[in-house]
Amino acid sequence: MLPADGNPATRPALPPIAGLRRDFIWGVSTSSFQIEGATREDGRGASVWDTLGQKGLIANHDTGDVACDHYHRYREDVALMRQLGIQAYRFSVAWPRVLPQGRGAPNGPGLAFYDRLIDALLAAGIEPWLCLYHWDMPQAIDDLGGWTTRDSVAWFADYAALVASRYGDRVKRFATFNEPSIFTLFGQGFGDAKQDASGLDDMHRAIHHVNLAHGAAVDVLRARAPDSSIGCVHNFQPCRPSTPADAPAAALCDAYWNRAYPDPQSRGFYPPLLRERIEPHMQPGDLARIRRPLDWFGLNHYGPTYIKADAGARFGFGFGDRPADLALTPIGWAMDPKAFRDTLLTVDRDYGLPIYVTENGMGGHDQLDAAGTVIDNERIDYLRAYIGAMNDAAAAGADIRGYFVWSLLDNFEWESGYSVRFGITYVDYPTQRRIPKASFHWYRDLIKAARAARP
Ligand code: FCB
Repeated sequence: MLPADGNPATRPALPPIAGLRRDFIWGVSTSSFQIEGATREDGRGASVWDTLGQKGLIANHDTGDVACDHYHRYREDVALMRQLGIQAYRFSVAWPRVLPQGRGAPNGPGLAFYDRLIDALLAAGIEPWLCLYHWDMPQAIDDLGGWTTRDSVAWFADYAALVASRYGDRVKRFATFNEPSIFTLFGQGFGDAKQDASGLDDMHRAIHHVNLAHGAAVDVLRARAPDSSIGCVHNFQPCRPSTPADAPAAALCDAYWNRAYPDPQSRGFYPPLLRERIEPHMQPGDLARIRRPLDWFGLNHYGPTYIKADAGARFGFGFGDRPADLALTPIGWAMDPKAFRDTLLTVDRDYGLPIYVTENGMGGHDQLDAAGTVIDNERIDYLRAYIGAMNDAAAAGADIRGYFVWSLLDNFEWESGYSVRFGITYVDYPTQRRIPKASFHWYRDLIKAARAARP
């Protein structure tokens, strides 16, 4: 039978990978809220994303109630991963599934779900990479102030202890946070209801507490899962000025977006532009609590942003015009593989940690064709160009150890709901049927070729 992408002879070419290490790891990433569904099942508590859905704040009034129904279909999804040939799978634990109130009594059935998932992955020869926090904050502790209260540091450390004790015998790779700058900038920052100075203050508090929670979780993971390898996953991309006059605004955006977390975590200081803003929320010894030794840097990268000065905007900056000739993905994100290469070299130079590209991929509006296939050659072109750029960065000396496509499945894309598709597998939501797209087959071929090239 022909694979679902039609004729393999016409499949687009693979990218250059000769510059990558022999032990390079190929994987895919997902996150709990975006795929699991079953939001009211087996004792799971509510998360802030359930609340946003109930308030109708997601495109098309979508919710995460069913999502990809991964909670029930995880075996089928692990079988897909096996077919793909990946070595590692990055997923996140839903904090409110294992601690419905965010703290206090754990939820046995919720914990058991991740036991089953981890065991299925290991049985399939796939290494589980567990991320503690991919944005689904339990509503019960958000109601107590969430990241704006320093109590959140202890709540997160206790949650990390529960996860490490339960899964640390089988999971050896842990990430503390996914893209902390994005959920603080867009949650407390741009998105907060309080559009005055107190809202900004909340964001600065949240940044500092998330950094402290990271440091505390690293210590807990080291103690409870001593043979594990630990990192934090950052969204890091060039913030470019729309015009030369916008350079200071772009520099400030860079400080919030790219530097506010990795700088204190790996270098022991806040970016100079943020120091005065964050210092009022610090206590003596905090920088040492944040800077704990790490094993790797998780890099999520999609494309550069263009920033303009905007005196009326809360931060003094906003999204500005982009060059007219900039290539865009179908959902309007910048497509600039050279920026990826540059970012890899910058991260390598500034943080000195082995890099895993923990997310990269393309969002579109894929549709099933009459033959029941999804020929997403545009996504393949994106992946080929970006993986080629990663190869260039590795050849230029960056220490890059792995690459994870975002994402295995089409899924709940935050405020865009299901209107945007990032998967290399199409999900037919009414039936929950999974249909590997052409990019799935292409990525499988790439992994096969890369693994065959090993000694
Ligand atoms: C990243 C998020 C991930 C997904 C991709 C498209 O910023 O970490 O959950 O939404 O973007």
